Amino acid sequence: MAVVPATPQNIRSAAQSLRAGGVVAFPTETVYGLGALALNARAAARIFEIKERPSFDPLIVHVGDEGMLALIAREISPLARELMRRFWPGALTIVLSRRDAVPGIVTAGLPSVAVRMPSHPVALALLRETGAPIAAPSANRFGGLTPTRAQHVEKMLGQRVECILDAGPTQLGIESTIVRLEPHLALLRPGAIAVEEIEAVTGPLERVVDEGGAPLAPGRLAHHYAPATRLRIASSDDVPATERSAAGYLAFTHAPQGYSAVRVLSSSGDLTEAAAHLFDLLHELDALGLERIDVEPVPERGLGLAIMDRLRRAAA
Ligand code: TXA
Ligand code: MG
Repeated sequence: MAVVPATPQNIRSAAQSLRAGGVVAFPTETVYGLGALALNARAAARIFEIKERPSFDPLIVHVGDEGMLALIAREISPLARELMRRFWPGALTIVLSRRDAVPGIVTAGLPSVAVRMPSHPVALALLRETGAPIAAPSANRFGGLTPTRAQHVEKMLGQRVECILDAGPTQLGIESTIVRLEPHLALLRPGAIAVEEIEAVTGPLERVVDEGGAPLAPGRLAHHYAPATRLRIASSDDVPATERSAAGYLAFTHAPQGYSAVRVLSSSGDLTEAAAHLFDLLHELDALGLERIDVEPVPERGLGLAIMDRLRRAAA
């Protein structure tokens, strides 16, 4: 059985698999990750095979402490330090200049490396037991729905990974926010930490939209994060009753009538709660075999920015 509870013993044996060049799925506070040794090109290459991910996409490297950070990044600026002090461990990924030790397959040949220190106790324990940085994208097939539970990983990748550490649903439910500091401040992917919070430290960040050519962040690809069922962004107010019966609806705050299945992101209108439930509820609706899923747009402030970013790509 690939899914095992994240007990200390199972974490130790997952770390052993990693050290032997294997690939394991593990929980972070954002989403489940698919991990391999970041400084071992062959191990990292297996991530791409398993995800069926085009190899031009760079991976996020997870570190558990200062020592691991020093192995992969150099010239850490005072502003980068300040962001780490403020948001690590946590859901902020920072793009830094990389050391030569980081294999090209991890960074897609870029001179930079994306790094974060996760706050999930299981992720931190796994890093500590492994004793080395772990490269890990989200543990889904390329372009598919983000996994927020071990069962989502099992459904998509179950046969392909040595082990899936299960610690229940992830707390934040949406991927980390990614920022770049050089050559100028930019938001590469809105995510689980509201951009407003980061800008309070950095000042204004440029919103980097798709920059043709090799993608800076494949989460930036127009079609990504997608369920198997056709998804469209539409408020129920604009959908006639006759078009509702074969479809599911993902509502922001309250359930409308007439849909075959309805899920509500946050009845109190809390965008952080909505982000935490987004992929979980999309997985549920996707499993029902409906003709279509309509999703109600949410306000684009706070985590609403990340939610709408994912929904637009899923609907593309
Ligand atoms: O919350 C998360 O960030 C999760 C958990 C597992 O940590 N990971 C995640 O990884 O979402 P992934 O591979 O699905 O997304 C990584 C993003 C990609 O869009 C990638 O292009 C971007 O990080 N990235 C990685 N290295 C980069 C670099 N050197 N410059 C710019 N973007 C980079
Ligand atoms: Mg991903």
